[in-house]
Amino acid sequence: MKHRNQVFDNVLDLVGNTPLIKLNKVASKFKGSFYAKVESFNPGQSSKDRIATYIIEEAERKGILTPGATIIETTSGNTGFSIAMVSIIKGYNCVLAVSSKSSADKIDMLKTMGAKVYVCPAHVSADDPRSYYEVAKRLHNEMKGSVYINQYFNQLNIDAHYASTGPEIWKQTEGKITHLIACSGTGGTISGTAKYLKEQNPNIKVIGVDAFGSVIKKYHETKEFDEKEIYPYRIEGLGKNLIPTATDFDVIDEFVKVTDEESAHTARELARSEGLFVGYTSGAATQALKQLGEEGVFKKDDYVVVIFPDHGSRYMSKVYSDKWMHEQGFFDSINEAAAQNIEYIK
Ligand SMILES: Cc1ncc(COP(=O)(O)O)c(C=O)c1O
Repeated sequence: MKHRNQVFDNVLDLVGNTPLIKLNKVASKFKGSFYAKVESFNPGQSSKDRIATYIIEEAERKGILTPGATIIETTSGNTGFSIAMVSIIKGYNCVLAVSSKSSADKIDMLKTMGAKVYVCPAHVSADDPRSYYEVAKRLHNEMKGSVYINQYFNQLNIDAHYASTGPEIWKQTEGKITHLIACSGTGGTISGTAKYLKEQNPNIKVIGVDAFGSVIKKYHETKEFDEKEIYPYRIEGLGKNLIPTATDFDVIDEFVKVTDEESAHTARELARSEGLFVGYTSGAATQALKQLGEEGVFKKDDYVVVIFPDHGSRYMSKVYSDKWMHEQGFFDSINEAAAQNIEYIK
Protein backbone atom coordinates (compact mmCIF):
# COMPACT_ATOMS: atom_id res chain seq x y z
CA MET A 1 0.00 0.00 0.00
CA LYS A 2 1.21 3.44 -0.91
CA HIS A 3 1.06 6.79 0.80
CA ARG A 4 -1.24 9.57 -0.24
CA ASN A 5 1.44 11.94 -1.52
CA GLN A 6 2.36 9.46 -4.28
CA VAL A 7 0.82 8.94 -7.69
CA PHE A 8 -1.50 5.94 -7.94
CA ASP A 9 -2.06 3.40 -10.71
CA ASN A 10 -5.75 3.15 -9.88
CA VAL A 11 -8.18 3.76 -7.05
CA LEU A 12 -7.54 0.36 -5.42
CA ASP A 13 -4.05 1.49 -4.40
CA LEU A 14 -5.80 3.71 -1.88
CA VAL A 15 -7.55 0.89 -0.01
CA GLY A 16 -6.44 0.68 3.63
CA ASN A 17 -3.91 2.81 5.52
CA THR A 18 -6.78 4.86 6.92
CA PRO A 19 -5.96 7.52 9.53
CA LEU A 20 -6.30 7.23 13.28
CA ILE A 21 -7.82 10.51 14.45
CA LYS A 22 -7.96 11.71 18.05
CA LEU A 23 -11.42 12.31 19.51
CA ASN A 24 -11.01 15.60 21.34
CA LYS A 25 -14.54 16.35 22.49
CA VAL A 26 -17.05 13.48 22.66
CA ALA A 27 -15.10 11.56 25.29
CA SER A 28 -13.31 14.45 27.00
CA LYS A 29 -14.95 13.83 30.36
CA PHE A 30 -13.56 10.29 30.61
CA LYS A 31 -10.08 9.26 31.71
CA GLY A 32 -7.85 7.90 28.93
CA SER A 33 -7.17 8.77 25.28
CA PHE A 34 -9.62 8.00 22.49
CA TYR A 35 -8.93 7.60 18.78
CA ALA A 36 -11.09 6.77 15.78
CA LYS A 37 -9.92 4.58 12.91
CA VAL A 38 -11.79 6.42 10.19
CA GLU A 39 -12.62 3.95 7.43
CA SER A 40 -14.44 6.51 5.27
CA PHE A 41 -10.96 7.45 4.02
CA ASN A 42 -11.02 4.28 1.90
CA PRO A 43 -11.82 5.11 -1.77
CA GLY A 44 -15.23 3.41 -1.52
CA GLN A 45 -15.77 5.30 1.75
CA SER A 46 -16.03 2.22 3.98
CA SER A 47 -14.12 -0.61 5.61
CA LYS A 48 -15.71 -3.01 3.10
CA ASP A 49 -13.13 -1.96 0.49
CA ARG A 50 -10.69 -4.08 2.48
CA ILE A 51 -12.68 -7.30 2.27
CA ALA A 52 -13.72 -6.77 -1.35
CA THR A 53 -10.09 -6.32 -2.43
CA TYR A 54 -8.75 -9.11 -0.24
CA ILE A 55 -11.36 -11.75 -1.11
CA ILE A 56 -11.19 -11.02 -4.84
CA GLU A 57 -7.37 -11.05 -4.87
CA GLU A 58 -7.33 -14.35 -2.93
CA ALA A 59 -9.66 -15.86 -5.55
CA GLU A 60 -7.32 -14.59 -8.28
CA ARG A 61 -4.28 -16.08 -6.52
CA LYS A 62 -6.03 -19.45 -6.23
CA GLY A 63 -6.99 -19.30 -9.91
CA ILE A 64 -10.72 -19.38 -9.06
CA LEU A 65 -11.40 -16.03 -10.74
CA THR A 66 -10.52 -15.70 -14.38
CA PRO A 67 -10.71 -12.53 -16.51
CA GLY A 68 -14.26 -11.45 -17.31
CA ALA A 69 -15.80 -13.74 -14.65
CA THR A 70 -18.74 -12.73 -12.47
CA ILE A 71 -18.68 -11.84 -8.78
CA ILE A 72 -21.94 -12.25 -6.84
CA GLU A 73 -23.08 -10.89 -3.48
CA THR A 74 -26.31 -10.22 -1.61
CA THR A 75 -26.11 -6.68 -0.30
CA SER A 76 -27.15 -3.19 -1.27
CA GLY A 77 -24.86 -1.77 1.37
CA ASN A 78 -21.19 -0.93 1.62
CA THR A 79 -19.96 -4.38 0.57
CA GLY A 80 -21.93 -4.21 -2.67
CA PHE A 81 -20.44 -0.82 -3.48
CA SER A 82 -16.89 -1.99 -2.75
CA ILE A 83 -17.25 -5.17 -4.81
CA ALA A 84 -18.62 -3.13 -7.71
CA MET A 85 -15.66 -0.75 -7.47
CA VAL A 86 -13.07 -3.54 -7.38
CA SER A 87 -14.85 -5.34 -10.25
CA ILE A 88 -14.62 -2.27 -12.49
CA ILE A 89 -10.89 -1.89 -11.98
CA LYS A 90 -10.15 -5.59 -12.36
CA GLY A 91 -12.52 -6.25 -15.27
CA TYR A 92 -15.11 -8.53 -13.63
CA ASN A 93 -18.89 -8.46 -13.84
CA CYS A 94 -20.55 -7.62 -10.56
CA VAL A 95 -24.00 -9.04 -9.81
CA LEU A 96 -25.84 -7.98 -6.67
CA ALA A 97 -29.08 -9.55 -5.45
CA VAL A 98 -30.72 -7.07 -3.09
CA SER A 99 -33.93 -6.76 -1.15
CA SER A 100 -36.77 -4.60 -2.45
CA LYS A 101 -36.48 -2.75 0.89
CA SER A 102 -33.22 -1.19 -0.37
CA SER A 103 -33.59 2.52 -1.08
CA ALA A 104 -33.68 3.76 -4.68
CA ASP A 105 -30.57 5.83 -3.91
CA LYS A 106 -28.61 2.73 -2.93
CA ILE A 107 -29.67 0.82 -6.03
CA ASP A 108 -28.76 3.80 -8.23
CA MET A 109 -25.36 4.01 -6.55
CA LEU A 110 -24.63 0.34 -7.31
CA LYS A 111 -25.78 0.72 -10.92
CA THR A 112 -23.58 3.81 -11.26
CA MET A 113 -20.65 1.63 -10.24
CA GLY A 114 -21.46 -0.78 -13.07
CA ALA A 115 -23.20 -3.52 -11.07
CA LYS A 116 -26.10 -5.57 -12.41
CA VAL A 117 -28.74 -5.43 -9.68
CA TYR A 118 -31.49 -8.00 -9.07
CA VAL A 119 -34.18 -6.52 -6.82
CA CYS A 120 -35.87 -9.38 -4.94
CA PRO A 121 -39.10 -9.26 -2.91
CA ALA A 122 -38.46 -8.45 0.74
CA HIS A 123 -41.58 -10.14 2.11
CA VAL A 124 -40.64 -13.75 1.19
CA SER A 125 -38.81 -16.21 3.48
CA ALA A 126 -35.07 -16.81 3.07
CA ASP A 127 -35.66 -20.23 1.43
CA ASP A 128 -38.17 -18.91 -1.13
CA PRO A 129 -36.63 -19.13 -4.65
CA ARG A 130 -37.33 -15.39 -5.07
CA SER A 131 -35.40 -14.34 -1.93
CA TYR A 132 -32.12 -12.55 -2.52
CA TYR A 133 -30.20 -15.41 -0.88
CA GLU A 134 -31.77 -17.97 -3.23
CA VAL A 135 -31.43 -15.75 -6.30
CA ALA A 136 -27.72 -15.26 -5.56
CA LYS A 137 -27.24 -19.02 -5.07
CA ARG A 138 -29.06 -19.81 -8.31
CA LEU A 139 -27.04 -17.26 -10.30
CA HIS A 140 -23.84 -18.63 -8.78
CA ASN A 141 -24.78 -22.17 -9.84
CA GLU A 142 -25.80 -21.07 -13.30
CA MET A 143 -22.78 -18.90 -14.03
CA LYS A 144 -19.75 -21.10 -14.51
CA GLY A 145 -16.61 -19.69 -12.91
CA SER A 146 -18.53 -17.16 -10.82
CA VAL A 147 -17.49 -16.34 -7.26
CA TYR A 148 -20.01 -15.84 -4.43
CA ILE A 149 -18.52 -13.58 -1.74
CA ASN A 150 -21.04 -14.60 0.99
CA GLN A 151 -19.53 -12.19 3.56
CA TYR A 152 -21.40 -13.53 6.62
CA PHE A 153 -20.00 -17.01 6.12
CA ASN A 154 -16.61 -16.39 4.56
CA GLN A 155 -13.46 -16.84 6.67
CA LEU A 156 -11.61 -14.52 4.27
CA ASN A 157 -13.70 -11.66 5.66
CA ILE A 158 -11.88 -12.17 8.99
CA ASP A 159 -8.53 -12.73 7.27
CA ALA A 160 -8.80 -9.41 5.40
CA HIS A 161 -8.89 -7.45 8.67
CA TYR A 162 -6.26 -9.70 10.27
CA ALA A 163 -3.97 -8.79 7.37
CA SER A 164 -4.61 -5.04 7.29
CA THR A 165 -6.78 -3.32 9.95
CA GLY A 166 -5.08 -5.09 12.88
CA PRO A 167 -1.46 -4.40 11.82
CA GLU A 168 -2.31 -0.79 10.92
CA ILE A 169 -3.78 -0.09 14.37
CA TRP A 170 -0.88 -1.80 16.14
CA LYS A 171 1.61 0.32 14.20
CA GLN A 172 -0.33 3.58 14.49
CA THR A 173 -0.69 3.23 18.27
CA GLU A 174 2.95 2.04 18.60
CA GLY A 175 1.59 -0.94 20.50
CA LYS A 176 -0.05 1.26 23.14
CA ILE A 177 -3.66 0.28 22.39
CA THR A 178 -5.50 -1.07 25.46
CA HIS A 179 -9.11 -1.28 24.16
CA LEU A 180 -10.70 -1.90 20.78
CA ILE A 181 -14.36 -0.95 20.24
CA ALA A 182 -15.99 -2.10 17.00
CA CYS A 183 -19.46 -2.80 15.67
CA SER A 184 -20.22 -6.37 14.74
CA GLY A 185 -22.30 -7.07 11.66
CA THR A 186 -20.72 -9.95 9.77
CA GLY A 187 -18.13 -9.79 12.58
CA GLY A 188 -15.25 -9.73 10.12
CA THR A 189 -13.85 -6.37 11.21
CA ILE A 190 -13.82 -7.00 14.95
CA SER A 191 -12.72 -10.64 14.68
CA GLY A 192 -9.79 -10.16 12.31
CA THR A 193 -8.58 -6.97 13.95
CA ALA A 194 -8.89 -8.41 17.47
CA LYS A 195 -7.15 -11.66 16.54
CA TYR A 196 -4.12 -9.76 15.26
CA LEU A 197 -4.02 -7.34 18.18
CA LYS A 198 -4.40 -10.06 20.82
CA GLU A 199 -1.53 -11.98 19.26
CA GLN A 200 0.61 -8.89 19.90
CA ASN A 201 -0.78 -8.23 23.38
CA PRO A 202 -3.33 -10.63 24.91
CA ASN A 203 -4.34 -8.01 27.51
CA ILE A 204 -6.04 -5.78 24.95
CA LYS A 205 -9.77 -5.63 25.71
CA VAL A 206 -12.05 -6.13 22.74
CA ILE A 207 -15.57 -4.78 22.94
CA GLY A 208 -18.19 -5.51 20.31
CA VAL A 209 -21.15 -3.23 19.67
CA ASP A 210 -24.54 -4.85 19.15
CA ALA A 211 -28.10 -3.58 18.61
CA PHE A 212 -31.18 -4.13 20.73
CA GLY A 213 -33.13 -6.54 18.53
CA SER A 214 -30.06 -8.64 17.61
CA VAL A 215 -29.10 -12.11 18.90
CA ILE A 216 -25.32 -11.56 18.96
CA LYS A 217 -24.67 -10.36 22.54
CA LYS A 218 -26.80 -13.06 24.14
CA TYR A 219 -25.22 -15.74 21.94
CA HIS A 220 -21.76 -14.57 23.01
CA GLU A 221 -22.72 -14.83 26.68
CA THR A 222 -24.77 -18.06 26.67
CA LYS A 223 -24.07 -19.81 23.32
CA GLU A 224 -27.85 -19.88 23.01
CA PHE A 225 -29.57 -18.67 19.85
CA ASP A 226 -32.55 -16.93 21.40
CA GLU A 227 -35.21 -15.99 18.86
CA LYS A 228 -36.94 -13.88 21.52
CA GLU A 229 -34.07 -11.39 21.23
CA ILE A 230 -35.01 -10.63 17.63
CA TYR A 231 -37.11 -7.60 16.72
CA PRO A 232 -36.78 -4.82 14.12
CA TYR A 233 -34.32 -1.99 14.67
CA ARG A 234 -33.09 0.85 12.52
CA ILE A 235 -29.29 0.82 12.55
CA GLU A 236 -27.96 -0.90 9.43
CA GLY A 237 -24.68 -2.81 9.58
CA LEU A 238 -24.54 -4.08 13.13
CA GLY A 239 -26.23 -6.92 14.92
CA LYS A 240 -27.99 -9.81 13.23
CA ASN A 241 -30.85 -12.31 13.40
CA LEU A 242 -28.47 -15.20 12.70
CA ILE A 243 -25.00 -16.26 13.88
CA PRO A 244 -22.40 -15.47 11.20
CA THR A 245 -19.40 -17.79 10.95
CA ALA A 246 -17.39 -14.66 10.07
CA THR A 247 -17.60 -13.78 13.78
CA ASP A 248 -14.91 -15.31 16.00
CA PHE A 249 -16.61 -15.02 19.39
CA ASP A 250 -13.49 -16.20 21.24
CA VAL A 251 -11.50 -13.03 20.54
CA ILE A 252 -14.27 -10.70 21.75
CA ASP A 253 -14.36 -10.00 25.50
CA GLU A 254 -17.83 -8.47 25.74
CA PHE A 255 -20.66 -6.92 23.79
CA VAL A 256 -22.39 -3.64 24.57
CA LYS A 257 -25.87 -2.91 23.24
CA VAL A 258 -26.82 0.54 22.02
CA THR A 259 -30.17 2.06 21.08
CA ASP A 260 -31.16 3.45 17.68
CA GLU A 261 -31.97 6.81 19.20
CA GLU A 262 -28.81 7.39 21.22
CA SER A 263 -26.63 6.15 18.36
CA ALA A 264 -28.32 8.57 15.96
CA HIS A 265 -27.78 11.54 18.26
CA THR A 266 -24.18 10.53 18.88
CA ALA A 267 -23.52 10.26 15.11
CA ARG A 268 -24.80 13.84 14.75
CA GLU A 269 -22.68 14.92 17.69
CA LEU A 270 -19.54 13.54 15.98
CA ALA A 271 -20.14 15.91 13.06
CA ARG A 272 -20.82 18.91 15.29
CA SER A 273 -18.08 18.38 17.83
CA GLU A 274 -15.27 16.54 16.02
CA GLY A 275 -15.95 17.62 12.42
CA LEU A 276 -16.24 13.95 11.49
CA PHE A 277 -19.08 13.25 9.07
CA VAL A 278 -19.47 9.50 9.54
CA GLY A 279 -22.16 6.83 9.36
CA TYR A 280 -24.79 5.58 11.79
CA THR A 281 -22.64 2.74 13.14
CA SER A 282 -19.81 5.17 13.92
CA GLY A 283 -22.38 6.87 16.14
CA ALA A 284 -23.26 3.47 17.62
CA ALA A 285 -19.62 2.65 18.39
CA THR A 286 -19.10 6.05 20.02
CA GLN A 287 -22.31 5.57 21.99
CA ALA A 288 -20.87 2.27 23.32
CA LEU A 289 -17.68 4.16 24.26
CA LYS A 290 -19.75 6.69 26.21
CA GLN A 291 -21.67 3.96 28.05
CA LEU A 292 -18.42 2.26 29.07
CA GLY A 293 -16.97 5.65 30.06
CA GLU A 294 -19.98 6.36 32.28
CA GLU A 295 -19.43 2.98 33.96
CA GLY A 296 -15.86 4.08 34.79
CA VAL A 297 -14.25 1.36 32.68
CA PHE A 298 -11.40 3.56 31.35
CA LYS A 299 -8.28 4.54 33.32
CA LYS A 300 -5.84 7.44 32.85
CA ASP A 301 -3.32 5.58 30.67
CA ASP A 302 -5.84 3.70 28.55
CA TYR A 303 -5.54 4.05 24.79
CA VAL A 304 -8.89 3.31 23.22
CA VAL A 305 -9.42 2.78 19.49
CA VAL A 306 -12.92 2.92 18.01
CA ILE A 307 -13.57 1.83 14.44
CA PHE A 308 -15.72 4.19 12.34
CA PRO A 309 -16.90 1.96 9.45
CA ASP A 310 -18.22 4.40 6.84
CA HIS A 311 -19.09 7.91 5.67
CA GLY A 312 -22.04 10.10 6.65
CA SER A 313 -23.11 10.83 3.08
CA ARG A 314 -24.79 7.41 2.89
CA TYR A 315 -27.29 8.45 5.58
CA MET A 316 -28.65 11.75 4.27
CA SER A 317 -32.21 10.44 4.13
CA LYS A 318 -31.88 8.87 7.58
CA VAL A 319 -29.78 10.01 10.54
CA TYR A 320 -28.89 13.32 8.91
CA SER A 321 -32.46 14.13 7.91
CA ASP A 322 -34.38 16.12 10.54
CA LYS A 323 -37.58 14.79 9.00
CA TRP A 324 -36.50 11.16 9.45
CA MET A 325 -35.31 11.80 12.99
CA HIS A 326 -38.67 13.35 13.79
CA GLU A 327 -40.59 10.43 12.20
CA GLN A 328 -38.69 8.00 14.41
CA GLY A 329 -39.63 10.01 17.47
CA PHE A 330 -35.99 11.03 18.03
CA PHE A 331 -36.88 14.74 18.07
CA ASP A 332 -39.67 16.32 20.08
CA SER A 333 -40.62 18.57 17.22
CA ILE A 334 -39.26 18.81 13.69
CA ASN A 335 -39.50 22.58 13.69
CA GLU A 336 -37.63 22.76 16.93
CA ALA A 337 -34.84 20.59 15.52
CA ALA A 338 -34.56 22.30 12.18
CA ALA A 339 -34.73 25.77 13.71
CA GLN A 340 -31.42 25.16 15.46
CA ASN A 341 -29.50 25.70 12.24
CA ILE A 342 -31.77 27.15 9.58
CA GLU A 343 -33.20 30.58 8.97
CA TYR A 344 -35.49 31.18 6.01
CA ILE A 345 -35.10 34.64 4.48
CA LYS A 346 -38.45 35.73 3.10
C1 LIG B 1 -22.04 0.68 8.14
C2 LIG B 1 -21.47 -0.58 8.70
N1 LIG B 1 -21.03 -0.57 9.96
C3 LIG B 1 -20.52 -1.68 10.51
C4 LIG B 1 -20.45 -2.87 9.85
C5 LIG B 1 -19.93 -4.06 10.56
O1 LIG B 1 -18.75 -4.58 10.03
P1 LIG B 1 -18.54 -6.14 9.99
O2 LIG B 1 -19.51 -6.68 8.97
O3 LIG B 1 -17.14 -6.33 9.58
O4 LIG B 1 -18.85 -6.69 11.34
C6 LIG B 1 -20.91 -2.92 8.52
C7 LIG B 1 -20.91 -4.16 7.75
O5 LIG B 1 -21.77 -4.99 7.71
C8 LIG B 1 -21.43 -1.74 7.92
O6 LIG B 1 -21.88 -1.73 6.66
